[in-house]
Formats: sequence, C-alpha cells, structure tokens
Amino acid sequence: MISLDLDFVRAQFPVFSHPESASWAHLENAGGSYVPDHVISLLQDFFVASKVQPYWEFGPSAKAGEAMDRSLELLPATFNANKGQVHFGPSTSQNTYVLAQALRPNWNVGDEIIVTNQDHEANIGVWRRLEMTGINVIEWGVDPETGLLDISEVRNLINDKTRLLAVTHASNLAATINPISELAEMVHSVDGVLVTDGVSFAPHAAVDVKELGCDVYLYSTYKTFGPHVGLMFTSDAILERVTNQGHFFNSEKPTALLTPAGPDHAAIAACAGMIDYYDDIFRHHFPGSSEVTLRERITKVFELFGQHEQRLMTPLVDYIISQDDFRLIGSRSSDHNVRAPTVAFHSHSRSSEEIYSALVKAGVSCGHGNFYAHRLVEAVGLDPEDGVVRLSLVHYNTNEEVDKALNALDDIG
Ligand SMILES: Cc1ncc(COP(=O)(O)O)c(C=O)c1O
Repeated sequence: MISLDLDFVRAQFPVFSHPESASWAHLENAGGSYVPDHVISLLQDFFVASKVQPYWEFGPSAKAGEAMDRSLELLPATFNANKGQVHFGPSTSQNTYVLAQALRPNWNVGDEIIVTNQDHEANIGVWRRLEMTGINVIEWGVDPETGLLDISEVRNLINDKTRLLAVTHASNLAATINPISELAEMVHSVDGVLVTDGVSFAPHAAVDVKELGCDVYLYSTYKTFGPHVGLMFTSDAILERVTNQGHFFNSEKPTALLTPAGPDHAAIAACAGMIDYYDDIFRHHFPGSSEVTLRERITKVFELFGQHEQRLMTPLVDYIISQDDFRLIGSRSSDHNVRAPTVAFHSHSRSSEEIYSALVKAGVSCGHGNFYAHRLVEAVGLDPEDGVVRLSLVHYNTNEEVDKALNALDDIG
C-alpha cells in the first residue's frame, strides 16, 4: 500500500524551514493550516505582476483575470461540482450570512428552520436571527455527555413546515462525521434545503456534494492550505430560488448573486495553488497515472492524507480516553471515516487554560476555549470561556509532533 511521503509533503511548506516557526509542533490546524509554496508563489506573482483591476485587455490586467479564472475553473473539483456552482466569498461566516438573506423571501411566517447546537456559530446564528422575521427556529441538540447528534431525534423534528436544516459535516470540536446523505434524504422528503458546513471536514477528505446530496456546502480555504476565501457550493435548484444579493446589473451572472462582497482578487488567484499542491502530491505518489481526471487525483490524494491522519490521531485519542481525568468531546473512534483528527477534551481537575499553557510551554501550538462552538461547549456542561483544549492535526503533522503533545500531557498528569 502506498503511504504518504512526509518528507516530500513537508518540503512543500516553507514554514518548516523558518527559523522560529519550524520549532513549533503546529497542532492548531483547525484554526488555520500552513500554506505550501504553490499558494505563496501565486500570491506573490499576483501582487508583483498583476495587482490591478482584472479582466481589461492590458497585460497585467489580462494576466490577473486569467489567474482568477484558473481558480474558478479548478476549485469546483474539490466539491465534485461544476464551474458556476461554486461562489467565492470572503469567508464561510459571510457566505452563510448572505445565503440566509437570499433564501428568506422563499418562506412564510411560521415556517421552520432546524439548527444544531453542535455547529460553529457561523452556521447557527444567521439562521437563528431569522426568528426576528417570523421564522420558527427549532434546535436539534447534542447529547450533553458526548457532544454527539442523534439522527433519530431530528427525524421527529422534520415536518411539513421544515424549510431548511443547517448542520455541520464534522464539528470543529466534536469532530465526528455526521450522516449528511441520510439527512439530505430526510429534508428533501419535505422539500426542504440542507446546508452543510464542511469547514472542519474539507481539510481531511475529498468532499463529494453529489454523493452527499446536499443543496449547499461551505468550506474555507485557509483551513485547506490556501488563503482565506469562503467557498460555497449551491445546487442549480437552489440558485434558481435565491434572490440576488449582488448589484442589480450583475444579476445574470450566477456566481455574482451570492457574493456582494467578493474576497480580494489575489486570494482568489492563489486558491489554484491548492490544486497545484494536490497535483504535485499525486504525481509524486502515483507516477505515470497522468490519465486520471482532476477529481480522481484529488480523491486519491485525500485518501493518502486520511490514512496518515488516522495513524497520527490514534495514539492521541487513545491517550485521552485512557485518562480518567480527561473527557474527550465526540466519538472515541480514531477511524478517519468516523472522525476528523481534531481532539477536543477537558480535565475534571484542572482548567483547560492550565493544560493549554503547559502544552504551549512544551512547544505545542494549540488553543483552548469555545472556538466559536459556544453553544456546544455550554451544552456539554463547560464554561464557554475556559472551554476545551483542542489539538487538531492535518496530513503534514508527524508522529514526533504528536509525541511532543503526549509527553507534555503526561508531565502535567
Ligand atoms: C466548523 C467551522 N465552520 C465555520 C467557520 C467559519 O469560517 P470563516 O472563518 O471562514 O468564517 C469555522 C472557523 O473556524 C469553523 O471551524
């Protein structure tokens, strides 16, 4: 079986040669991942050679437009979607905000939206605020012990008045993969819309909106080795139902409807660097397989990432669940088909701040608190300020970095 060549992977990331940054075991990837050379060089090229209004005929402007078009062309493959179905906004929070405004005119007073208390606030607050306009917002709550959602409970909440269900693919704390395709079927049976936040899932596996059957899927590229752009897939049917949130004279352009504040041009252009990176990983691990499509290459690359991440997270998850003093939030499995490699936990005897400080002293980048999953942290009975300690891995992490965290945790205990 082919496994990920970590030396090759890490050689693509200049941060690992940076005199100060390289000394940290970066286990705060769920907050933002490092970027490979591919992204940095596109960003630099744009700023040096084409930092002008794009899409005019003069050289630098035409070049800027071409660089942006390349991203618009390539990035839909990361969703298994088509060009024109993916909107490039400034962030996921901004994209859900705009989407909520765009969908609201479809609904009547008394219609219902279901939100969870497991999601990041980006996929809760914008829907909850529609209560002010007469929408009834129903909460699908987590198990207060595990932080997990039970699909049998939402079955009882969905009814003829349900217009939308907003749910995370994998929470940024509980990290457990929710059964999106089953949820899509349930919501579609009452002609409702499924909005899935994939920000914490997309860095770890190839997203497939066709297989998942979701109507809207969002993720942010600063978690997937790129600059900060919010990518939002909408199905063709949804696009027909949204009211234009952009300038009136752009209403014929599908990808302008939901991006009144597009992100900066350079950031859009640099997103193609993520694809260049995946392609280099593919070529290195599967030499001679040049016939396969971009989508197939992305899928293969993420399979390698997932297998490596599973090997990394196993000792960490096992350690946390073996300690009586620690409580893990979310699934106790280390199977990468069950959970993302984000490990959020707390101690029964010490504050999360104390544990986090000890980890940072030992050279581990991490954080503590609610990570904007404020409602989840409260639902599992914790103070949202102190919250949980979060150690989040991606494919470029090493066993040594995980060991650094484990040794620090052992020293505290
Ligand atoms: C699960 C999840 N959803 C949404 C967001 C918000 O993304 P953005 O910062 O692009 O608004 C985050 C950010 O951390 C997140 O972790």
